[in-house]
Amino acid sequence: MVDMAKAKESKRAAATRGYAVRPATRDDLKAIVGLYNWAVNQTFATIDSEPLDAEEAQAWWEMHGRRSVLLVATDDTGLIGWARLLPWKQRGFDVVECLVYVDPVHHGQGIGGALLKALTAEARGLGYLTIVASVAKDNRSGLALFTKQGFEVVGTIRNAAHKFDRWMDITLVQKELES
Ligand SMILES: CC(C)(COP(=O)(O)OP(=O)(O)OC[C@H]1O[C@@H](n2cnc3c(N)ncnc32)[C@H](O)[C@@H]1OP(=O)(O)O)[C@@H](O)C(=O)NCCC(=O)NCCS
Repeated sequence: MVDMAKAKESKRAAATRGYAVRPATRDDLKAIVGLYNWAVNQTFATIDSEPLDAEEAQAWWEMHGRRSVLLVATDDTGLIGWARLLPWKQRGFDVVECLVYVDPVHHGQGIGGALLKALTAEARGLGYLTIVASVAKDNRSGLALFTKQGFEVVGTIRNAAHKFDRWMDITLVQKELES
């Protein structure tokens, strides 16, 4: 009988050999946006339904503030994932939001988990006490990514966004960052 845990582990070991997580540079932007636009066009991972054009991508890049971080995962083929911290949308809240995107070819290989771990450490280093993410309620991999690292579900906003001719429920998850 196949040992599923061992099979998963060896798939990860093979796949994750030789990838690195590092801060993004401006040269990474095209690949970052390419990956994001794939998710815009093909998935419910983001509520955006229009791909970012070059001008919007540049504005997104420039959102870099003192307390925003953008990381990428790369291997010898190039960029295979990215993750970003941004101050949470609500004015006055001292909360940070995180986004994690991995090239679908590399899903299930531990890269999203590695990016989230690194991003959480960055958020802690920046002095945030709470990190959140909003995930479509039926985004199984997105919810698994966060809950496996100790994020808890705060609640679900029903009919929060409309995409591909259907309404989406969005679940908010949070993790406390002890200092
Ligand atoms: C969510 C996403 C980033 C996960 O990236 P990934 O590299 O495939 O994730 P990992 O391989 O590191 O898996 C992280 C954990 O989630 C689990 N997981 C991943 N996908 C899963 C699925 N479909 N069902 C159940 N568990 C899943 C893994 O088993 C792993 O748990 P473990 O550490 O206990 O083994 C990736 O699917 C993605 O890019 N999706 C589109 C963007 C998105 O939805 N982002 C989240 C909202 S910002």
